[in-house]
Amino acid sequence: MKQNCSSKHRRPVLVVHGGAWAMPDDTVAAHERGVRNAMSAGWKVLERGGSAVDAVEAAVMVMEEDDTFDAGKGSFLTSVGTVEMDALIMDGATLRAGGVGGVQRVRSAIRLSRLVLEKSPHVYFVGAGAEKFAQEHGMELIDNKELVVEREVVRLRDFKAVLAAGGKDTTFSGGDEQSRVPEQMSHDTVGAVAVDVNGNIAGATSTGGTVNKEPGRVGDSSLIGCGCYADNLSAAASCTGWGEPIMKLVLAKSAADAVAAGKEPQVAADEAIANLKNRLNGHGGIILLDASGRYGIAYNTPRMAWGVRTKELEDVAVVRGA
Ligand code: GLY
Repeated sequence: MKQNCSSKHRRPVLVVHGGAWAMPDDTVAAHERGVRNAMSAGWKVLERGGSAVDAVEAAVMVMEEDDTFDAGKGSFLTSVGTVEMDALIMDGATLRAGGVGGVQRVRSAIRLSRLVLEKSPHVYFVGAGAEKFAQEHGMELIDNKELVVEREVVRLRDFKAVLAAGGKDTTFSGGDEQSRVPEQMSHDTVGAVAVDVNGNIAGATSTGGTVNKEPGRVGDSSLIGCGCYADNLSAAASCTGWGEPIMKLVLAKSAADAVAAGKEPQVAADEAIANLKNRLNGHGGIILLDASGRYGIAYNTPRMAWGVRTKELEDVAVVRGA
């Protein structure tokens, strides 16, 4: 049953992110452009009265198609040079969700996630089963090589060279062994949260994961409550950053719960990222939005690509240093 926050006509809000990391200066313009394009696609849906779920899907699909980001084409590569994508989309009105993990042969992991949400009694598909589901529901299966870009081949090679040179001790930051990663080389996971005219919220997150991840590794992005969450009664959230610490803290749901407990979304977002740092020395970012349109954005990385769109704020999409 739908849980419309109220029968009142609401003002839509869209918040988008395109990753949080030490983006080099020469990539800032591409990130800004990509976020603006994503906002434009999501906003088109919201302004014509479309649903929050449609809006976040549209916004994320644009960033998956843009090889600037670590999602879809242009994703970071696994240790064996392949792209493996994870994604989740969640409808805060119904708590219906669709997630996929480790998919290699679709262009859009978020599109496939949406199909899971709409067409399956299940919530989550991985690997070959996810791709079979995609094909059965009309999605074209592609060669994984179509998702691989030269920039990422070079990044993987450089990453391995750092490891081979013993860079783990000096170059890497992070807390426990599992969370050690060079901040410069991560994390362009993309996501969006939205509230629509009916006061319903939704969240979506899509990623190629982390550089040099082992084949089969699944991160936070597609796990409900970790890298993505949406519940009209609390908030919608999408995370970016190093997935292992985010998973351990169930960061998206924790932040949404803080909003349900009465915190302003900005305060809840700040506290979530502080907790990520203080508990596990993790790094990343979060966007958070409640059904009344209040939002928060927080990150502890040198930069985060994000954008906000409301009727009044027509064009805010920036990358700012932390
Ligand atoms: N946040 C993306 C990942 O760790 O896979």
